[in-house]
Amino acid sequence: MMTDPSQRYRAAAPVSLSDRQWPNNCLEKAPIWSSTDLRDGNQSLFEPMGIEQKLHLFQCLCALGFKEIEVGFPSASQVEYDFVRLLIEQNRIPDDVRIAVLTPAREPLIIRTMQALQGATHALIHLYTATSAIFREHVLGLSEAKLLSTTVSSVQQIKQLVPDYAVATWGLEYSPEMFSSTELDYALRVCNAVTDAWAATSDRQVVINLPATVEVSTPNIYADQVEWMHRNLARRDAIILSIHPHNDRGTAVAAAELALMAGAERVEGCLFGQGERTGNVDLVTLALNLYTQGVTPELDFSDLANLSRTMEALTHLAIHPRHPYAGDLVFTAFSGSHQDAIAKGMKRQATQAYWEVPYLPLDPAELGRSYASIIRINSQSGKGGISHLLFSHYGLVLPRRVQIEFSAIVQAHMDYQGGEVSAETLWAWFSQTYIAPDSAWQYRGHSYGSGTMQLQLRQGQSRLTLCGQGQGPLEAAAAALASTGFKVLVHGYEERALETGDHGVKAKACAWVEASLAGKEHALFGAGIDDDMLTAAIRALISACGRLGFQRSEATTSSISCSEAGLQI
Ligand code: KIV
Ligand code: ZN
Repeated sequence: MMTDPSQRYRAAAPVSLSDRQWPNNCLEKAPIWSSTDLRDGNQSLFEPMGIEQKLHLFQCLCALGFKEIEVGFPSASQVEYDFVRLLIEQNRIPDDVRIAVLTPAREPLIIRTMQALQGATHALIHLYTATSAIFREHVLGLSEAKLLSTTVSSVQQIKQLVPDYAVATWGLEYSPEMFSSTELDYALRVCNAVTDAWAATSDRQVVINLPATVEVSTPNIYADQVEWMHRNLARRDAIILSIHPHNDRGTAVAAAELALMAGAERVEGCLFGQGERTGNVDLVTLALNLYTQGVTPELDFSDLANLSRTMEALTHLAIHPRHPYAGDLVFTAFSGSHQDAIAKGMKRQATQAYWEVPYLPLDPAELGRSYASIIRINSQSGKGGISHLLFSHYGLVLPRRVQIEFSAIVQAHMDYQGGEVSAETLWAWFSQTYIAPDSAWQYRGHSYGSGTMQLQLRQGQSRLTLCGQGQGPLEAAAAALASTGFKVLVHGYEERALETGDHGVKAKACAWVEASLAGKEHALFGAGIDDDMLTAAIRALISACGRLGFQRSEATTSSISCSEAGLQI
């Protein structure tokens, strides 16, 4: 049973910041991105990556455009150490990429970490100490003063050891672990002491990283904490202010966005939100959120589909089908009203400068996704989606009244069979209904001239030749059919060019005929597809007749050609 939370959970202390500025700010440029996939992400896996997989991921991260990559925790294991050595010794690090490595504040571990970096061009040594009261009091058993002095001595050790290792440019990053649960004034004192001890300057900035190690508050509180630090840190020009949100409350992306508005300049996180427990902030979502707001993210996710598969293979963790931007279903609409709006938007989009398709925040093609899966048909779907699928796969434009009629036919199939239906199945249902209705006579050939139509029909092995006269070819064809006793009235005719859909129906024209039996009101559509417009129209008429019941039993008249009828074509 759940208990009274006010007795059980201590809420994060609100920050006294009545003149907070962040709500008025907008995100206008990309932050400095730092990937911690190879460290925070990796340390949270059932099966941490080996050297080969880490190298593969490192290369992917470089290709995506990351200029700062935390590559490991070299004092934690031999694999972690060896991987850093491999990157350096095999010259795998692009000149414009700075690698970072994590170290605890303990001298032997600091030495081991610095040894791992020997020979690197740009290296960032990332020192952390846990600053929250619960850690100081119950985990580390250190007073505020002792923890502060331990942190400062570690910075001094690093500074003293720097000359011993050949690294072209050394940088220092400091994280007060559990920052978002730490008393702000204490976190500030420790960070200021680190900046001083490193003797950071505007030319030699220290990275001060503020982790929401466990996300304990709403994103606005984290933003207040970050803005408070941003405004109170001494030597602000000597600092790159960084954030490191985790996702325990499911709001890491929001927290990161608000914290950037609050003055942070750098974000640490992982692709697809990998990382301890509920993960680190998802850098894919953050970057693409910027992109859809019109800000260049400076990370290239144009092949996101492939990246997702690579990450799944490396981490052995599946990406949820509804994961923002990357999930298999995020550009798919099943519901009829969504499909209708998307289909209309997609049609209009061809002439638009800006991407403005309802329900789709960005063009899936920009992420390497095809349009094929945008609209999928199940029992929730409607005429818009069905028409869109037939158009995008087969180039077929359904007249509006056919859309309504055919969607009822699809609904009936779906109610019966459930599940999802493919474009191929839709096409099969469409053909059976409108092009070649079951057990009906089919078009075999025709000749037309001087108002006279000779029609050849077939049904299985049976053949029928009919002759009729009229004002135009369609009327003459109707007259030929009427010679069997099957009197049909043509109410409407329209033709549409067939675009070449994905499945490339080869013919060029689709004709539609709406017809009814003489003396009956109920009219039905038939469709005909052919290279030749007239042939398509005759086929459409025959299909409509088939739907109206012109079947073998109706054709009681035996064949009579035009020459037998004494007519010239
Ligand atoms: O979440 C965290 O606090 C960390 C630190 C070590 C930066 O990963
Ligand atoms: Zn972390």
